[in-house]
Amino acid sequence: MTNVVVVGAQWGDEGKGRIVDWLAEKADIVVRYNGGHNAGHTLVVNGQTYKLALLPSGVVRGKLGLIGNGVALDPEALLAEIDRMAAMGIRITPELLQIAETTTLVLPVHRAVDAAQERLRAKPIGTTLRGIGPAYEDKVGRRGLRVCDLAEPELLGLKLDVLLEHHNAWFRGLGLDTFSRDQMLGDLLVMAPRILPFMRRVWEQLDNAYSSGKRTVFEGSQAVMLDVDWGSYPYVTSSTTIAAGAASGAGIAPSRLGQVLGVSKVYATRVGEGPFMSEVGGTSGDTLRQRGGEYGVNTGRPRRCGWLDTVQLRQGCKVSGINSLALTKLDVLDGFESVYVCVGYELDGKRIDYMPSTNAEQQRLQAILKRFDGWDGATRGIRSYDELPGQATALIEAIQREVGIPVSMVTTGPERDDAIVLRCPFADADDMAIRLVHASKRED
Ligand code: GDP
Ligand code: IMO
Ligand code: MG
Repeated sequence: MTNVVVVGAQWGDEGKGRIVDWLAEKADIVVRYNGGHNAGHTLVVNGQTYKLALLPSGVVRGKLGLIGNGVALDPEALLAEIDRMAAMGIRITPELLQIAETTTLVLPVHRAVDAAQERLRAKPIGTTLRGIGPAYEDKVGRRGLRVCDLAEPELLGLKLDVLLEHHNAWFRGLGLDTFSRDQMLGDLLVMAPRILPFMRRVWEQLDNAYSSGKRTVFEGSQAVMLDVDWGSYPYVTSSTTIAAGAASGAGIAPSRLGQVLGVSKVYATRVGEGPFMSEVGGTSGDTLRQRGGEYGVNTGRPRRCGWLDTVQLRQGCKVSGINSLALTKLDVLDGFESVYVCVGYELDGKRIDYMPSTNAEQQRLQAILKRFDGWDGATRGIRSYDELPGQATALIEAIQREVGIPVSMVTTGPERDDAIVLRCPFADADDMAIRLVHASKRED
């Protein structure tokens, strides 16, 4: 049985949540394997909007959600999200949600470190200030707390001592407020009875699911350009966001991951600082932002907007092993007389087709843009490829050609079913072999 990994192919907010929700109908389990509540995944179902940060997007369909060890989990944020979902009529019980024992905890001290680090940096990263980076730093520094520690109050206190010894020394040196061990311990012990019932051996669940022929969707957060190794470092998040992260962040063999579906808008956005070659200022940028509703789901920050960058996308597909693409938000381009796509970069007068690694070179890059005709009329809500205007299909097919990866889905509105499915991402591996498929020869 084929599994599918869903990954962001740009800088995040591509519409991964709604794609995962769509796939979840055909799956048994949805598992999160990276990031934390820096993510904001939006689902719109019959006019009702669900904004998920830590919960796997399948829970809205009642599908088992797993949180893997690779996630950075803020227990306060999780409980608040569970309460928000309850108020919307979705009860998150241990039958619906299970959390790996070894998942790293994000604590208030991490939020404080995140804020102070951003303040102190000559060039801030523009993080979500959720404490995600500092929590991963503690994990790698081997002083982090994990979900299973909540079950051992005495050891928890000792582990907090080690953690706070490290952080309080830094706070003191900077003349900042320190954290009280007793206060933090007390708060964690209050939350523990609500968190611990969700604790499971997630790796075992995934192993059993695979052996019994169940389908799993691995829901990536963030995106390839925010990957700590493959993104535009240091303007990245602190986890492995490419598909490879699903194996170590959930506890499953890479050979069992199955297909990798990359999600990309038909244009591009980025939140926070860092290079964005095809960024558009002025009216076109503002129009994309307004029509696309490009404001952060959780932070409300305006997103930077620009045209689709096929150099970035092609490179992202290669390092993440993406073998089909979901192109989202086609309807946002309705009404544009001209649409542009970045098809190459110029560096010091030479054309290149890769993203250079140094920040200095990145700053000298010029985007080479190709113009496409816009279309009259609306694609919003169209659910059949044949009903799309010719200019829109020409754009989709040009993106497919430039990137060299087949497009399997196109979305035309935020509602769950505002989607055109060209080939089901759960198709057999042979069928999904990396090859260019002309969209008009699609399968039903
Ligand atoms: P994620 O982080 O990748 O899950 O994406 P976000 O939820 O942060 O951002 C995607 C935004 O685009 C959300 O507000 C979605 O409701 C919206 N969206 C998703 N697909 C479409 C689409 O096809 N058309 C339009 N207009 N909006 C969409
Ligand atoms: P989803 O899953 C877009 C960005 C932040 C910042 C950088 C580092 O919704 O696509 P962090 O708080 O992670 O240390 O911030 O990463 N960022 C995201 N941008 N979508 C996200 O998640 C993001 N998660 C983090 O804006 O530039
Ligand atoms: Mg988002």
